[in-house]
Amino acid sequence: MLARLLEVAGIESVVLEARDRDYVEHRVRAGVLEQGTVDLLGELGVAERLDREGIVHGGIHLQFGGERHHLPMSELTGRSIVIYGQTEVVKDLIAARLATGAPLQFEVDGVSVHELESERPVIRYSHDGAAHELECDVIAGCDGFHGVCRSSIPDGVLQTFEREYQFGWLGILAQVAPSIDELVYAHHERGFALLSLRSPELSRYYVQVRHDEDVADWPDERIWEELQLRTALDGWTLHEGPVIEKGVTGMRSFVTEPMQYGRLFLAGDAAHIVPPTGAKGLNLAIHDVRILGEALVRWYRDGDGALLDAYSEACLRRVWRAEHFSWWMTSMLHRVGDDPFDLQLQLSQLRYLTTSRAAATSLAENYVGLQTV
Ligand code: PHB
Repeated sequence: MLARLLEVAGIESVVLEARDRDYVEHRVRAGVLEQGTVDLLGELGVAERLDREGIVHGGIHLQFGGERHHLPMSELTGRSIVIYGQTEVVKDLIAARLATGAPLQFEVDGVSVHELESERPVIRYSHDGAAHELECDVIAGCDGFHGVCRSSIPDGVLQTFEREYQFGWLGILAQVAPSIDELVYAHHERGFALLSLRSPELSRYYVQVRHDEDVADWPDERIWEELQLRTALDGWTLHEGPVIEKGVTGMRSFVTEPMQYGRLFLAGDAAHIVPPTGAKGLNLAIHDVRILGEALVRWYRDGDGALLDAYSEACLRRVWRAEHFSWWMTSMLHRVGDDPFDLQLQLSQLRYLTTSRAAATSLAENYVGLQTV
């Protein structure tokens, strides 16, 4: 996305990807785009298929105590979300990049970054068995939580904040029409469940499991059984179908500050992680690169580095809002232990959300994406 932003502004970049094209185009990732994300894809001319295939949702459902409540987000905020897989966004961006012939290299190995404090930071890597060195103006560390960029920053520079959760999500992609019109976030004594989708033919469902759960212990029948129990509702049926993908996602909250060291700028999961409950991860990453792209354009065009200097601070305001929202949604909806006090707090908060317009609006404006933070 950053490369596309720069390309549209006439600024050259090289994109290095460790995996092969097939892997990144098929790995199942997030699925909820905020309006701001959709708008940016449109501005960059890569929203043609998104406009055709994306499914606009105006609300979500919260289920607890055996009842399902609709939270009308569009009515409360005037904005909506779009269901379109991150995998599809990636496919569209790769196609646009390849169409212009701008550099994009898959299956690069042994990437390392150097001279970060200088005006010519360097990236070394190998590709097809040959060693390469890139002399850059700037390096964007968009290489995820386990990437090399953050760990190349000297000790003592970064401050990190972290929370781990004792549970994770077991997710499936099923070849069956979604049984619901909009997403269902279900609180249940057996644990959280989420009903989502990818298309009119593909459902994406999750159940809360232990963080170290072995997928091998979860044959399809067991997953369906849990989903049925946790989302059951009188007069409604969860339809089952062939499971075509299955995996466990860990849950973590993590922030590193600042998001810059010299000429290295961290963006997305390289700098921060949220648990998936608020559907914020992809949208936050896109927000980072919008800020970084605009700052770089200003710097190249006008020689003005003020926006670049302010990059970290500008991103972190939204990052921390999303950290709080995701932690809060996670804490409210999951089975966090056996303490009955925790359970009563969760149920009270859920009842408040479904009876107070002010409380519902607060959730909704965070979910669809705040315009100012
Ligand atoms: C998804 O469809 O993968 C999804 C939707 C909502 C979330 C998290 C994941 O909060």
